[in-house]
This record gives sequence, C-alpha cells and structure tokens, in this order.
Amino acid sequence: MRYIVTGGAGFIGSNLAEQLVRDGHEVVIVDDLSTGRSENIKHIIDHPRVTFIEGSVTDLALLIDACGGADGIFHQAAIASVPRSVKDPLETNAVNIGGTVNVLWAAKECGVPAVVAASTSAIYGDDPVFPKHEEMRPTPLSPYAVSKLAGEYYGKVFSDLYGIRTTFLRYFNVFGPRQDPNSEYAAVIPKFITRLLDGKPPIIYGDGEQTRDFVYVLDVVRANILAMESGATGVFNIAGGRRINLNELARNLGEIMGVHTPPIYEPPRLGDVRDSLADISRARVAFGYSPRYALKEGLRETVIWFRDSGRYR
Ligand SMILES: NC(=O)c1ccc[n+]([C@@H]2O[C@H](COP(=O)([O-])OP(=O)(O)OC[C@H]3O[C@@H](n4cnc5c(N)ncnc54)[C@H](O)[C@@H]3O)[C@@H](O)[C@H]2O)c1
Repeated sequence: MRYIVTGGAGFIGSNLAEQLVRDGHEVVIVDDLSTGRSENIKHIIDHPRVTFIEGSVTDLALLIDACGGADGIFHQAAIASVPRSVKDPLETNAVNIGGTVNVLWAAKECGVPAVVAASTSAIYGDDPVFPKHEEMRPTPLSPYAVSKLAGEYYGKVFSDLYGIRTTFLRYFNVFGPRQDPNSEYAAVIPKFITRLLDGKPPIIYGDGEQTRDFVYVLDVVRANILAMESGATGVFNIAGGRRINLNELARNLGEIMGVHTPPIYEPPRLGDVRDSLADISRARVAFGYSPRYALKEGLRETVIWFRDSGRYR
C-alpha cells in the first residue's frame, strides 16, 4: 500500500511511519518540521519506499501533489498543545482545522479512499462522568480541543458527502520514545524522565492528584493501522483504559529509574482537564484494539530510550 503520513516527523507520526515501512508499505511523510525533527526519521528517510516532503498541511496544492495514487492518509500533523492553543488560538485554528479540511479535500480530489486522523481526549473536557465514552456530549475547554472536534465533524461530513472513509482516533495521553521533552509545552512523562535523569525534581502543576489515562505510543501506532485496515469509520477512544495520578506516576518513574527525588508543585495550568479515563470498548469491538503494553513496561522502554539516545538535552 502507499500511505501518506502527515506529521510523520513528529513523535507519534515517526513511530507510525517506521512501522508502516517495516510492514512493507510505501510511505510519504509530509511535515513542516515545526515541532517534528528530521532526526526522528533519519533511520528511514533513505529507505527506497520512503519519501519525505517538507511542507505544511495548510498548503492544499502540496497535499494534492503528494496524495496521488495513495491508498490512505494517516493525518497526524497538528499543533498538538493545549497551552499553545490558549496563547495563540488563531494559529491552532489555521493548522488544525484548516489543515484537516485540506487533507480531507486532497483525499477527495485524489480519490484516496480512507483518512485515519488523530483526535484527542481533550474533547471531553471536565465532564465528571467516567470512563469517557464516545457518545458523551463534547465539552471542549481549549481552542485545541475545539479545533480537534471541528476536525471530527468535518470528517463525518466528508464521509457523508463524498464517500471518503474517515476515522478519528481520540488519543488519551500518549507517551514513548521520541516524545519531545524540551518545549515549554512538553508532556508530563518526558518532562519527568528528563528532569530525573538530570537529578532534578519533577514539576507538577496543581496538587498531583489529577489523573491521566496513559497509552504507549506503539499501541497508538497499532490502533492506527488496525483502524485503516479494518475499514471502521467514526470516532474511537484510544487509550490504556486505566488511570493514574501524577503523584503516583512520579513515584513509579522514580522506582524504575532508581532515584527518589520528590516532585515540586506549581499552580495549575489554564485549559488543562482535571481527570481522564477512557472506555476503549468501541475500538475493541470495531477493530480489535486493546493495549498490549502495561504502563510500567511502556515507562521502562521510554526511560531506556531517553537514557540511551542521548536525545534529551
Ligand atoms: N501526544 C499525545 O499525547 C496526543 C494526545 C492526543 C492527540 N494527539 C495528536 O496526535 C498527533 C501527533 O501528535 P504528537 O504528540 O506526535 O506531536 P508532535 O508535535 O510530535 O507531532 C506533530 C507533527 O506535526 C507536524 N506539523 C505541525 N504543524 C504542521 C503543518 N502545518 N504541516 C505539516 N506538519 C505539521 C510537526 O512538525 C510534528 O512533526 C497530533 O494531531 C496531536 O494533536 C497527541
């Protein structure tokens, strides 16, 4: 198969592109390297079945050029940060909504039958019902969550109007190798690991009792491929299906890394949700998804990667 991976130089996209190459597919990566890094794909970029196009999903002509003859698009490109969207909602709107509509339109123009796209658990906001299931009414709390929800609605409308199969995967908190620990907006696990590696205390925003449903990146990769191959359409939660609070997470990481540095606490961040836990039964029924990695196993792999890759500084 010939697959397009937008955002394929990013954390999740590069892990996905690598697996698709390993599975024998042809892969076209479209990425503007805004938060992604060429280093993430340096081991596959010279592969005869890999093409890298440096460019933006806001560029429709570029997407239409890239999509010719493709069997499917994995759309991962986005401004993937709640705080960044709070600071600059216009940019998030242009890339996440504009880019997604472009990807869908390019699929239509090029006759690409299927788009599997990254959505987010942030769509559920602070609804007190747990676990979160896909029929719940969305209550986005940030421009980022609004942008992802709009993408889902566009996906449904493009399915209905133009017959493109669209699947939106609501990732919960993804972690694993290549996740960027350095940006101001970095996710909690790479931040904790790299601070502990530097002998510094992890920083927790809030009291640390907020919970997250973490999922290892290779489980997310498998979910994408299962969704594409199964032909399932609609919206699906992709998560570990278990939750842990940030105080426990810091303790777990300390144990795995053999360090005991207590966290320090700072004020909660605007737009962050308090708790998160997914019902993953819809994805299990539709395309056989269930996580293969236990949380501690994924954490161990991630710690090893950060230690060995020397990539965190
Ligand atoms: N990491 C998570 O926990 C998580 C959770 C929910 C949803 N998601 C979604 O998963 C997807 C991948 O996120 P990630 O964590 O790998 O983040 P990431 O920042 O590592 O990856 C995003 C990639 O998209 C690229 N990109 C950004 N704007 C672009 C543009 N205009 N044109 C082309 N490429 C562009 C970036 O350079 C980067 O390579 C995103 O859609 C994100 O919203 C991630």
